[in-house]
Amino acid sequence: MLDVDDLHAYYGKSHILQGVSFRVGEGEIVSLLGRNGAGRSTTIKTIMGEVAPVGTIRFRGERIARKGLGYVPEDRAIFPDLTVRENLLLGMKSTKAKGRWSLDEIFSLFPLLSERANAPGGVLSGGEQQLLTICRTLMGDPDLIMVDEPTEGLAPLIVERVRELLETVSRRGVAILLIEQKLAIALTISQRLYVMGQGRIVFEGTPQDLRKHDAVRKEWLEV
Ligand SMILES: Nc1ncnc2c1ncn2[C@@H]1O[C@H](COP(=O)(O)OP(=O)(O)OP(=O)(O)O)[C@@H](O)[C@H]1O
Ligand SMILES: [Mg+2]
Repeated sequence: MLDVDDLHAYYGKSHILQGVSFRVGEGEIVSLLGRNGAGRSTTIKTIMGEVAPVGTIRFRGERIARKGLGYVPEDRAIFPDLTVRENLLLGMKSTKAKGRWSLDEIFSLFPLLSERANAPGGVLSGGEQQLLTICRTLMGDPDLIMVDEPTEGLAPLIVERVRELLETVSRRGVAILLIEQKLAIALTISQRLYVMGQGRIVFEGTPQDLRKHDAVRKEWLEV
């Protein structure tokens, strides 16, 4: 569904992505792991066109087609003065099209948001804001979402809510590219994962493969 081949990217003269290749199949959950500065965010920004790509990016076989591609950036940029409901409605691409997710469904699936429907987004906790940004992206009815470090800085209890949300999303047939630094949820929900280091893919395999490769975890990930 998403095929990235020999992707390079630059910030000025710095050669940041140095030939990144990976794929995400229909309905798959794939994680892209790595330490700070590995180039994970740059990879998805390049796919979104925020950074100029050199190389091949195909979504459903087409180059530079982003319809159906959802992006949840790492900064959880919700609108603090708008209510939770208004924040969600902003995610809709069209008011006419009947997407996979309606506002009512989002509220019934995620009671945490429904209880706060009329509250300003700004009063939500960091974790609730994370759930809200993911749900706002779902309102655009993507077939694949790229989620940048959704569990960063969150308490274990709310990390569980994020995991449940991603599992629900996946059960509905939406593919997920999950960017993480920690292994916690990536190892349990991914079908496959990639590890990045210094702008390259340094490991590719299943969660079971990664569990066996102590050396990869020591060199490229948290230990
Ligand atoms: N706007 C920018 N201008 C110049 N260099 C940048 C810019 N953004 C990122 N970089 C550099 O590019 C490299 C990759 O950064 P990137 O944000 O992709 O890493 P990451 O894997 O997402 O890690 P993290 O989110 O933990 O920082 C880093 O060395 C970073 O300093
Ligand atoms: Mg990042």
